[in-house]
Amino acid sequence: MAKCRVCSTTLVPFISFGRMPIANGFLAEAEFANEYFFDLAVCFCERCYMVQLLEQPERKRMFHDHYAFYSSTSARMAGHFADFAREVINTYLHAADDPMVVELGSNDGIMLKHFSARFRHLGVEPSENVAQAARHQGIATVSEFFSEGLAERILAEHGPADVILAANTMCHIADIHAVAAGAARLLAARGVLIFEEPYLGDVIAKASYDQFYDEHVFMFSVGSVQRLFAEHGLTVIDVSGQDVHGGSMRYVLAHKRARVPRATVAAQIARERELGLQRAETYSRWRVCVEHNRDALHDMLATFKDQGRRIVGYGATSKSTTVINYCGITPEILEFISDTTPIKQGKYSPGAHIPVRPNGDFAANFPDYALLFAWNHATEIMEKEKAFERSGGQWIRFVPTVEIVARDLVQQS
Ligand code: SAH
Ligand code: TMP
Ligand code: ZN
Repeated sequence: MAKCRVCSTTLVPFISFGRMPIANGFLAEAEFANEYFFDLAVCFCERCYMVQLLEQPERKRMFHDHYAFYSSTSARMAGHFADFAREVINTYLHAADDPMVVELGSNDGIMLKHFSARFRHLGVEPSENVAQAARHQGIATVSEFFSEGLAERILAEHGPADVILAANTMCHIADIHAVAAGAARLLAARGVLIFEEPYLGDVIAKASYDQFYDEHVFMFSVGSVQRLFAEHGLTVIDVSGQDVHGGSMRYVLAHKRARVPRATVAAQIARERELGLQRAETYSRWRVCVEHNRDALHDMLATFKDQGRRIVGYGATSKSTTVINYCGITPEILEFISDTTPIKQGKYSPGAHIPVRPNGDFAANFPDYALLFAWNHATEIMEKEKAFERSGGQWIRFVPTVEIVARDLVQQS
């Protein structure tokens, strides 16, 4: 029986998505035969409330020198991280004397670039290609997985960190105790650790099952984060919901008793109790809803295909790997996936092997339907693709329910 990565209690599995490839493992035809697969299943821990994958592939299979996710591909996320940085500077750095800022999973520098010109800083980014893109902008970056050992070395070289940042990274790291211990060690006495990750409350409320894929080994809640970091002497002092990546939560932590927790923390924990995030039944009910969505999407696409309609996917997101392979979407159903990331173009989607093509191919010959895999960027995408709708094209989305949506009705999260 698998044990919780946080508290070693026996886990309760609640959904199995079947065999899955590496979500960002876009590949060439010659690589099809050797593609790696693992069992994607999700569990709940009744003791510490952490939702987590039963199995996660070895980290080197996901993060390496040809990692396909470049954070800066989204204009909306670039704006979000500019706001995030401004808030951190105004709240925690304005009075500090020559502060040190460290970011874990800094990728191509989308957030750290707002600090690099003014503050001592260091990005920790194991995927060498994206780290290199950050260095090209003058952002100091070390290409390593964060660990207690690296925390010690950073401490020796730069002194304690006044702010440690992370976005969409903490929930990727299976050995989360090593990260929490390293962060606690590196953090200055009055320092703050701030991270934001996809939020379990949104995943449950919206049935956004596509948030589960190899990289997301954990799906955090305030309750589970508080318990985990308390073991390392860190306390959650503030939380705030964020309208990105389908619904995220930002957590601010400090050394125990260094700062007074705001009322937001207790209020969100109370909300989590109301949502039932601490009860196993919530997850089994959620599974039924997800299975229903899977069947509805498959049936809708099959019907359109039978009617001779052309369907194209929009956004070769990591999340789409779960949707495509779980719902049985094949190259016969989906002509191709349009994506702006050069490293993905000309390759095939993981598992189902649907071609990924540049956005120009979408615009050159609009399909009848576009399946919006990048639903978290719905507003940005639908705004710039007005010509598609004018051509008579329609958007299909599957979160929170499977339906055709019009631009003025869309509710992005
Ligand atoms: N912060 C960016 C990137 C998120 S993708 C954003 O929000 O857009 C997650 C990043 O974490 C990847 O670039 C990956 O290489 C990095 N990563 C994975 N494991 C890590 C670890 N142990 N320590 C630091 N970074 C890690
Ligand atoms: P994300 O959901 O993990 O942020 O990934 C978004 C993916 O969608 C990424 O591969 C880039 C792609 N994309 C487009 O192709 N067009 C767009 O307008 C946007 C915003 C994203
Ligand atoms: Zn646990």
